[in-house]
Amino acid sequence: MAAVSHGRHSTVPGVLARCRELVRPALVEAVGRLHPWTGEMAAYALGWSDAAGTPDPGGSEGKGVRQALAVLGAEAVGADGSVAVAGAVATELVHTFSLLHDDIMDGDGLRRQRPAVWKAYGTGPAVLAGDALHAMAVQTLAEAPSPWAAAAVRHLCGTLNALVCGQADDLRFEQRPWTGSGAVELEQYRSMAEQKTGALLGSAIGLGAVLGGAPARTVSVLEQAGRHLGIAFQAVDDLLGIWGDPAVTGKPVHSDLRQCKKTYPVLAALAAGGTAARELAELLESPGQLHGTAVAHAAVLVEEAGGRAATRDEARRHLDTARRGLREAALAPEAARDLDALFTYVLDRSW
Ligand code: IPE
Ligand code: MG
Ligand code: MG
Repeated sequence: MAAVSHGRHSTVPGVLARCRELVRPALVEAVGRLHPWTGEMAAYALGWSDAAGTPDPGGSEGKGVRQALAVLGAEAVGADGSVAVAGAVATELVHTFSLLHDDIMDGDGLRRQRPAVWKAYGTGPAVLAGDALHAMAVQTLAEAPSPWAAAAVRHLCGTLNALVCGQADDLRFEQRPWTGSGAVELEQYRSMAEQKTGALLGSAIGLGAVLGGAPARTVSVLEQAGRHLGIAFQAVDDLLGIWGDPAVTGKPVHSDLRQCKKTYPVLAALAAGGTAARELAELLESPGQLHGTAVAHAAVLVEEAGGRAATRDEARRHLDTARRGLREAALAPEAARDLDALFTYVLDRSW
């Protein structure tokens, strides 16, 4: 395989735009193959149109990090980025489906500053739209004109199972006590985050590498790096869930705390012990749902007990591990640089 040069010293926004352009036609085509109704909801979820189905240029499209990871995964193993397009499309479809269903499970009515799909279209239709995206993701990959299509489908199916396991743990953790023998341990949280968030980020790069014809060992190193990036990303997501500005996150403030989500900052705060941790435990364990000022007070206690700082450390640690993983693999230098810059950029939100 000849190494492919795609322009020097690209900035991350430049890389994202290049990959988006490469993947866009196939993504539009895949969404166009859906039933018109589920296709309309998919277009809304992707930020391409408003809830009336009217095209919404400059709408609420995501950054397209996962599709770029897939393209760069192929380039990193010396292939042309175009071989990863089906993997990038499948990844974006799975990402969209997982968020769509996640908002139903979490009861979150807002996503990217707009009503979540279930709020805009109803829960039943939103479940169906998620199913449609899921199915189209697998179909896209199965039909990819690649000698490695079957391997890629196997890869994606493993990811889908991991994602479900992560979501299952996340939901089950809500019922677990905050303290005592049944409490969620940080290592259990980490495994949940790796599966619900890391699996898809790892799979994006891994799929690119699979479709680029990389040996299993290289796929696994890249995938592992993506998983660590995912754990770091989830830690930052947890921080933003408590302290993020809703105008930036597009989600209501403190919703994780209200829902008793076992997030890293709270678990780390409780594990730290001390006065603030004890007061926090008492507050969280008081009967009934936490409201208004109690939630805000809980956030203050989490910070006082060191939960915010510990979560930043956790994110930095996993980002470092992810970047070290990239250096371990013998990758095409330009793509490796782009991947490294993208890893850092993904976490570059105010936390
Ligand atoms: C979402 O996890 C993970 C998946 C969609 C699989 P969260 O529930 O923590 O993410 P946000 O905060 O709603 O995006
Ligand atoms: Mg959620
Ligand atoms: Mg969730």
